[in-house]
Formats: sequence, structure tokens, C-alpha cells
Amino acid sequence: MRLCKRVLMGANLLVRKAIFSRRTFIRLVFGVKLVSPPSVQSYCEWGTLMFRFVMGKYIKPGDRVLEIGTGAHALLPIFLSKRMEEVSVVGTDILSERVALAQETVAQNNADVECIVANMFDGIAGDFDFIFFNPPAIPTGELAELGYESKSYPGVGERRCWSSDGGPDGLDLIRTFLNEVSGHLRPDGLAMIAANPRHCSREWFTEYCPQVGLRIHRIHRLVGVNNTYVLQCSPPAEGKTAELPPSSVKES
Ligand SMILES: C[S@@+](CC[C@H](N)C(=O)[O-])C[C@H]1O[C@@H](n2cnc3c(N)ncnc32)[C@H](O)[C@@H]1O
Repeated sequence: MRLCKRVLMGANLLVRKAIFSRRTFIRLVFGVKLVSPPSVQSYCEWGTLMFRFVMGKYIKPGDRVLEIGTGAHALLPIFLSKRMEEVSVVGTDILSERVALAQETVAQNNADVECIVANMFDGIAGDFDFIFFNPPAIPTGELAELGYESKSYPGVGERRCWSSDGGPDGLDLIRTFLNEVSGHLRPDGLAMIAANPRHCSREWFTEYCPQVGLRIHRIHRLVGVNNTYVLQCSPPAEGKTAELPPSSVKES
């Protein structure tokens, strides 16, 4: 079992290094021309890839869309704004240097995306039809074992890895998102969040969501590496559920 887990982790790392770090791959899959330096470990993750292929099912022309933690490349907002011109897209990140690079990438790609610095929902104005987040979700201790050094940013804090550090149990940012997202969704709005099943189980989500007024509408799975949860406020706005694609999760 341990050997199997190690083989899977090795294969995952290999894919990330060999494919997700290729600019050509990003250009082909997301249609985004990168401006960042060529030597990064990876430009996207399993969650980014899953979002790329499923979010079109849930976003309608004219929607107002928000990505929390868009990162240095704003891949998904740029992809969306180029695919659906009527959609207005905002991408945020807690790190100003990532937002600056994201803004450059947006300009380079002639996309219509607003990129702003924000810590989760702090200072986010208005409400949205669709909000998504591919969160940092690896427990800090695991990152320490893997040799990640702490890195601090003035006025923001210190973490082992700003893309991956999810706090002591890995769930800090997932909890914040789930606790606060319904306050920023329009009545028939949807939220989407990615989680690695190794760090955050389906059982945990199923138990946590109803406690914060959310209902799991659907789970998209990439076996062993990603569960993507599509959520709506509970109870859903009257008459809206029928317009959504069929749910894969039975209501309790
Ligand atoms: C896993 S990366 C996802 C990047 C990109 N969205 C993607 O899917 O490839 C998580 C991103 O969240 C950002 N982040 C971390 N903590 C945050 C917070 N409190 N508020 C907003 N963004 C945050 C990180 O800087 C990082 O860019």
C-alpha cells in the first residue's frame, strides 16, 4: 500500500514537472501566452485543469465571475474572458507580486479581466453568479517534511508555500471559503472549489457544507488527485435548481 502510494505520488510529480511546466501546454489548453519566467516548477495544477474543462457547464453569458487566488498567470480568468466575451471576470490573489504578473499576462493576451489584491473575500464588492477557488490545501507539517522553507511577505504573513500551505490541517482556506462564499453569491449563484482527496475527504465536505448553509450540487472527480465540488446555497433559490445540469449527489 505504501509502495503504491509512493508510485502514485512519483507519477503525479512527474506529470506536473514534465507537462504542467510547459508553456506550450498552457498555450494549447488554456489559450494563454505566458509572460512569467520560463523556469517555474509548474504553471497549473490538477484543480486548474479540472476547472478549465468543467466551468463552462455552469457559467452563462452575462455572468459576473470571481476567482479567489488566481495566481501569477490568471489562466482561468483569461481563458474565460476569451471564450465568453459577455462574462465579466475578477481574479484576486493575496500576493501583490502575483497580481502584478497576472495583470501583465492579461494585457499580453488582450483579455478583459480585472486582477486585484485581496485576502480571501476581504474588500470584495458586490455579488457574483459564479465564484471559484483552487486553494492551498497541504498541511504545513507535510510541507516542512518536504523541505519547504517559510517565506514571509510584509503585511501578509508567513507560510511554507503560498500556493500550497493550508495551515495545520490543510483546511484553513477551504474553511474560510466555505464559511464566507454564500455572502457573495447571487441567489441562484454557484461556487466551485478543488480539493485533493488525500488531504480533504468527500466525507469531510459532506459533513461541513450543510453546517455553513451550502449544498453539494455535484462532484467532478479525477481519481486520486482531485475532487472538484460545485456548491449552491441551501436551500437554493426557488425554481433555479431545475436549470442546472443533473446533480450527482443525493440530497439528504
Ligand atoms: C493553488 S494556487 C492556485 C493558482 C491558480 N488559481 C491555479 O488554479 O493554477 C493558490 C493561490 O491562492 C493564493 N492565495 C493563498 N492564500 C490566499 C488568500 N488568503 N487570499 C487570496 N489568495 C490566496 C496563492 O497566492 C496562490 O496563487
